[in-house]
Amino acid sequence: MIWKFKYGHPFETEAVTEHITETEEAPPLGTVSLQEGFRWRYELAKDDIVYGLGEAVRGINKRGHCYISHASDDPHHMESTQSLYGAHNFIVIAGEHNFGLFVDDPAKVTFDIGSTCSDILEISCQEADLYFYMIDGETPYAVVKQFRKIIGRSYIPPKFAFGFGQSRWGYRTKEDFRRVADGYRSNHIPIDMLYMDIDYMQDFKDFTVNGGEFEDFPGFVKEMKERNIRLIPIIDAGVKVEKGYPVYEEGVKNGYFCKRADGSDFVAAVWPGDTHFPDVLNPEARRWFGGCYRPLIEQGIEGFWNDMNEPAIFYTPEGLEAASRLMREYVEDETGTVSMFQVREALTGLQNHQDYYKAFYHQIDGRMVRHDKVHNLFGCNMTRAADEGFERIAPDKRFLLFSRSSYIGMHRCGGIWTGDNKSWWSHILLNLQMMPALNMCGFLYAGADLGGFGGHTTRDLLLRWLALGVFTPLMRNHSAIDTRAQECYQFEGVEDFRHIVGVRYRLLPYLYSEYMKAALSDDLYFKPLAFEYPQDTFAPRVEDQLMLGGEIMIAPVYTQNAKGRYVYLPEEMRFVKFMPDGSIQQETLSPGHHYVEIALNEVPLFIRSGKCIPVAKAAECVAELQSDALELLGDPGAEYWLYDDDGTYKDYDNPANRRLLKKMS
Ligand code: GLC
Repeated sequence: MIWKFKYGHPFETEAVTEHITETEEAPPLGTVSLQEGFRWRYELAKDDIVYGLGEAVRGINKRGHCYISHASDDPHHMESTQSLYGAHNFIVIAGEHNFGLFVDDPAKVTFDIGSTCSDILEISCQEADLYFYMIDGETPYAVVKQFRKIIGRSYIPPKFAFGFGQSRWGYRTKEDFRRVADGYRSNHIPIDMLYMDIDYMQDFKDFTVNGGEFEDFPGFVKEMKERNIRLIPIIDAGVKVEKGYPVYEEGVKNGYFCKRADGSDFVAAVWPGDTHFPDVLNPEARRWFGGCYRPLIEQGIEGFWNDMNEPAIFYTPEGLEAASRLMREYVEDETGTVSMFQVREALTGLQNHQDYYKAFYHQIDGRMVRHDKVHNLFGCNMTRAADEGFERIAPDKRFLLFSRSSYIGMHRCGGIWTGDNKSWWSHILLNLQMMPALNMCGFLYAGADLGGFGGHTTRDLLLRWLALGVFTPLMRNHSAIDTRAQECYQFEGVEDFRHIVGVRYRLLPYLYSEYMKAALSDDLYFKPLAFEYPQDTFAPRVEDQLMLGGEIMIAPVYTQNAKGRYVYLPEEMRFVKFMPDGSIQQETLSPGHHYVEIALNEVPLFIRSGKCIPVAKAAECVAELQSDALELLGDPGAEYWLYDDDGTYKDYDNPANRRLLKKMS
């Protein structure tokens, strides 16, 4: 059962695609107060678990922290962090009552989940203008499935996007890219994508390519494609202010940029210096921006990543002027009225200052809507612009597309990466814990910067992280400029990297099949253990293992210097290790707790009783995978429904895409 409640005058976010009739009565659970904005309060039972919230810090069980949905460019993901890049306002309460809540409000929303008061869950919005959905179900899993159904089918990328990708902020020239391609191909480490960060552009101008460095860009795209490597350029939210730059000129002429209150185009400084933001919430401007991807597509590009779309703002001219004024006062001040701390705060507070978001407007249906009221929809609509653009440019084709900022609804248009993490062991675990939560909110194509974006990685950290990344739909190694080189071939013992990344390709037919089944039936690819074992006593408390698809459980190592880890098995399972010599070690383990040894160069997984999974022969790119030469791993007699298709077009319902495999002995 799904209840929909309307408060005030909600903004139509289009997150929910299914029609649901509004209910006049009060929500059956919890209490609503409209005294100051909107407040819903609920008393949690002692053992209730709260799932969801997509991209957020802390565990799979979100209880014990206060989270704020407010798309934020924050490269320091700490335990205390309240807001990250995405805003995913869906939670599930599991325990005495199993029910889900979706708070459809694109402004700031606070989820105090037993932080102020350990047993109180309180959701608050600054204004009472929202849709509030309540979904009940037999189990938390049943609740999630209903939610997924009403928000529409998740994005489906092309098959090559399930390969491994290398990225780094700082590749500037064709030679840089060729060197990385050579590094992978000559070391026989599989790869399918090279990501182009901001330096490929001409002066950081969206949809341009630095002509000096990338002469004959289509030829270069082709050259890479002939090596089975796709180039995936970044697109940033801000459009450089520069006379003569066509994207800028067109946007200004047609009024497609976000405006200040006085009607002038709002200016925000990002990578290129001063920029304007395309008003992607305005359908006409969105259509225009989506069309801007065309020239790159015509040059052979098949995928993009959309960045800085919270939107991130380094400073505004007004903010910079105020801070400079304060600094001048401080320098000239002899009375000590202005303190050094005020100056420091003014300078460090320049980046992403909250006031900026109240200083610009969107034009929607002839109304001016102040940005902060719809803040969480910006990245979502930038990505929607691209997706709608692709649909017009090549309607039958699948494009790779993912975004840094997102709101529920964007899961239909693209995937996400989880932003600027660090080369920290704790971020491997955070990566794992975000995955099922993201899936619950519809984001199936997701992954973290493997190896860590900020900070210097180490060989062991990268290997362990890759061994988790083997299973995440987006498998990308990405790092910041000025950090230690992080490409897999930069480390001693390259064969270990070849092996770990290679396992991804051996498992790819299975992972792709499970992804597609999840996407096509509004299901989860990653699940918390309790979703598969609702009766099990320990399963709901397991925070570092996940169920993947219908057949396997994963339990990666995420601690430094470990030689293995403890693992909990809710049922008898087959413990499988992909060994560095290419062999597969198998052992049946009884239900319960076990310590399992896992070396740095081994990839572990667990196959459930009575199940089997297909494993391919080694390949160095998706195009080389032999889908007709699959070995089955698991219990004799077990059957597996394999989904496979051409990976390029959208012929998902073709019965030829499904075939039954049976493990003989
Ligand atoms: C942002 C992105 C990061 C990218 C950098 C430069 O920090 O999150 O992935 O490398 O910008 O474009």
